[in-house]
Parts: sequence; C-alpha cells; structure tokens
Amino acid sequence: MSAEVLDGKRIAKEIQAEIKQRVATFVETHHFAPALAAVLVGDDPASQVYVRNKERACERAGIKSQLHRMPADSTTDEVLEKVRQLNEDPEVSGILVQLPLPREVDTQVVLDAVSPLKDVDAFHPRNVGLISQGRPQFLPCTPHGIIQMLKRYQIHTQGKNVVIVGRSDIVGKPMALMLANRDIGLGPEMANATVTICHSQTSDLGAVTQQADILIAAIGQPKFITGDMVKLGAVVVDVGINRTDDGLVGDVDYNDVVPVASYVTPVPGGVGPLTVTMLLENTLSAAGLQLAAVGS
Ligand code: GUN
Repeated sequence: MSAEVLDGKRIAKEIQAEIKQRVATFVETHHFAPALAAVLVGDDPASQVYVRNKERACERAGIKSQLHRMPADSTTDEVLEKVRQLNEDPEVSGILVQLPLPREVDTQVVLDAVSPLKDVDAFHPRNVGLISQGRPQFLPCTPHGIIQMLKRYQIHTQGKNVVIVGRSDIVGKPMALMLANRDIGLGPEMANATVTICHSQTSDLGAVTQQADILIAAIGQPKFITGDMVKLGAVVVDVGINRTDDGLVGDVDYNDVVPVASYVTPVPGGVGPLTVTMLLENTLSAAGLQLAAVGS
C-alpha cells in the first residue's frame, strides 16, 4: 500500500474561495466587512509567521484584519485591557489572542476575557461547553479544518474508531468532543465516531493506535508516530508542526507511515492551511452573530 496524500493546501483554497463569495454577499447586504483583530504579545518567531499568514488570508477573503502588537513584558492586566477594548469595539468581529503568551501572562484569565461572541478560536468556556453539548456557536479551527478535509475526501467518521494522540485544549479535547457527538453541524457522517484520547500516561500506546481507522497525531513531538503504530489502511492526520534542524517536521514519521496508511496528511501543506481557513469562516460567522445579537 502507498498512502494517498490529503492535500490540505488544495482543500483550503477551495474553501477560501467559497468564504470569499460569502464575505462579498455579507458586505453587499450589511455594508461593512467582517474584521479580525489579532493580539500578538512578544516576538516569538513562529507566532509572527502564523499571524502574518492569518493577515494575508483575511485580505484574500475580503476580511479586514488588525494586528495589535504588545511588548513581551506586558502584564496580564495590560493584555486584559486590550482584550476588553476589542470586546467593546463595534468594528471588531473576531478576536484572536495568539498563543503561546509570555509565561508571566495568565493565559487562562486572558482567554476567559474574550467575548464569547467574538471568540473565533472557540477557547472560551462557554463555547467549549456548547461544543460539548453538540450545539456549537463556533467550531475550533484546527479540529474543524480536519473534519472539513476528511469530508471533502469523503472519508466519513461515523462508526469509525478514531484515536487522537494528544489532549490539548486547542486540538485533542475539542476534536474528541466534536467527533463523539451525534452531529456537530457538519452532518452525522462526520461525527458519531468511537473516540479514544491517548496521552503521555497511556500504556502500550502502539496497541491503542493500532486500533485506529483514523489516527490523529497532535502531540508536538517530531516523527512520534511510526509505521508500526498504524493499522494497515488507516487514515493518518498529522497536526504537528515541529521546527527541527531538518526543517518543519510533523508528529508523524511520514516516510515510515506512507507504506501502511491509506491516506496521510503532509507537513507542511496538510492541516495547517485548513486551520487558517476555518478562522476566516469563524470571523464571518462572528460578524453575523453580532448582528443577530443587536437585532438587525
Ligand atoms: N497558537 C497555535 N495554535 C493556535 C491557535 O489555534 N489559536 C491561537 N490563538 N494561537 C495558536
């Protein structure tokens, strides 16, 4: 077997073209463009790249973008003040606080302060709760992007064993909640999975990952998933972006897994472009939610 590559770049382009159309219709109807405000604290080089990619993607889709840079020695209160200003600003549809924040800033306190109606990352406890209950207001960008990619390749999750390696609040946990639900708004065929979450304390990890029809790697360790951990014919989704001496490397040992899997995502060009794309989707829907909230 030699796995087919899941081309995230192509799918992202396709979805971005659809979003661009919907943004144009929104602007025609409401006479303003949705706007995304990104808050970038400090000068982490990877974060600078991510934020620039997001700005460019917004521009292509007709979404306004603002970048609010803050110095690395900002206090929690200073970042909170910025978030509160953006919450109150009627010109801002969505707020994204780029992570990681500097260690001195209390990340949880800052993320909890983002208005749930502008929470395009879906990190606010209210939004996490709504996802858990199967009635989401926003879907978190990376898990949503993964489901969109699988859907467009007609890889359904219903009735499948999905094993997620990694239990982060950004990917692992929301991914599990979305796939275990009956329908998260993307059709029952893209939910209803039997989900297992693995982590650093999982015993005999390889035996668990071997059960996966769909294996999602979101651990943050380069080439962690090797061919012997993958069932023949499984679909392997690599969420990792690790900067190593060999350049960007995923959490999956790509060359080792290709002969075993039926489909695999590359790094770069797999999940990454979809994360940015779903951020655009959420910014557009945030603009709509705020209109609905003021009753216009
Ligand atoms: N840093 C890495 N991934 C993410 C993400 O999805 N959202 C935000 N805000 N920061 C990140």
